[in-house]
Amino acid sequence: MPRELSLADIFQIGYYWETKILLTAVSLDVFSVLQGGAFTVNQVAEKMSVNARALELLMNALVAMRILNHSGKEFSNTPVADKHLVKGSPDYVGHLLVLHDSEWNHWGQLEETVRTGRSPVSQHVFETQPELGAHVLTVLDRIGRGSGIGLAQRLQLHGVERMLDVGGGAGTNAIAFCRAYPELTATVFDLPQTLKVTKAYVEKAGLSERVTLQAGNFHQDEFDGVYDVALMSDILHYQDGPTNAALVEKVYRHLNEGGRLIIKDRFLDRERTSPAWTTAFAVHILVNTEHGQCFTIDEARQWMDQAGFHHVEELEPCAMVQGSK
Ligand SMILES: C[S@@+](CC[C@H](N)C(=O)[O-])C[C@H]1O[C@@H](n2cnc3c(N)ncnc32)[C@H](O)[C@@H]1O
Repeated sequence: MPRELSLADIFQIGYYWETKILLTAVSLDVFSVLQGGAFTVNQVAEKMSVNARALELLMNALVAMRILNHSGKEFSNTPVADKHLVKGSPDYVGHLLVLHDSEWNHWGQLEETVRTGRSPVSQHVFETQPELGAHVLTVLDRIGRGSGIGLAQRLQLHGVERMLDVGGGAGTNAIAFCRAYPELTATVFDLPQTLKVTKAYVEKAGLSERVTLQAGNFHQDEFDGVYDVALMSDILHYQDGPTNAALVEKVYRHLNEGGRLIIKDRFLDRERTSPAWTTAFAVHILVNTEHGQCFTIDEARQWMDQAGFHHVEELEPCAMVQGSK
C-alpha cells in the first residue's frame, strides 16, 4: 500500500519555483558562461547582457539547489552542471529542458484548456520548432541508445530483411536494429527537418548503405516499398485515435504477409490512472498538442485488429504491443 499523502507532500507537489529557476538558467545558458571557471555575478551578467541583481538571485537559488558552487564572491558549475548543462558537452541535455521551458506558456493555459477542452496549440514541436525538435532528438538518442539495443534483442528479428521505422527520429532504433542484425536494412520515415539530424547519425554509425531515409508526412504520404517489420515508437500520442487507426492501416498495407508491426508508446492502464508518469504526460500532451492523447494498450490493439493484424499481443505492460499480418 502506498503511504497516505501528507500536507507537506501536497505543498511539495504544488511548488514549481525550482523547476522554473532551472529551466530559465538553461534557456539563458548560464552554465555555458560559467564553464571551466569561477566568476562574479557582474562578470557573468556582463557576458550575458542581463540584469546583475536579478541574475544574482537566480544563481543564489541554483547554489541552494546544488547545481552551482559558490565561494567568496564567485560562482562556478558543479561537476553535474559542467557535464550535462554546458552547450557543446557530449553529454548536454539542455535541449530537452529548453523544450520544457518553451512549453511553459502552454502549461500556463491548462486551466483554460480544462474549462474549454481546447488545447492552446494547433501543432506539435516537430512542426512548429523543427530545429529545437531535432536537438531534442539528439538528447533522446543519447538516452535511448541502450534501450534501442535491448529492444532489438528482445524482438528477435533473425531472418528479417526490411524494416520501416515510422517517425523514426534520429534513427536510434533503426541503427541499433541494423547493428544487431547484419542482414537487416531499414528505412527511417520522418519529416524533412528531422531527417537532417538522422542523416548525420546514420553516417556517423557507418550505416548509410543500409539505412535509407524517406522524407514525408506520415498523414499524407505513402511509404516507399513493403517491409517485414515496422516500428512506430513514440509517435502515436501526437494524434487522435481515428488518425492513428488510419496510420496503422497504412502501415499494414506496406507489410509483407507474415510481417510484424510493433507499437511502442506511453500507454495508460485500463483505469487510465497509472503509470503515474504517464498520467502526467497525458496532461502534458493535452496542452502541447492539438489532438494528441495517451491511449491504452486496448485502444492500440483495436487499431491493429481493425487494420487486419492478428496475434496481437502486449509485449510489455503499458509500453509495447505487436501484431502480425
Ligand atoms: C518523439 S519522436 C520519436 C522518435 C523515434 N521514433 C524514437 O522512438 O526515438 C517523434 C517523431 O515523429 C516525427 N513526426 C511527427 N509528426 C510526423 C509526421 N506527420 N510525419 C512524419 N514524422 C513525424 C518527428 O519528427 C519525430 O522524429
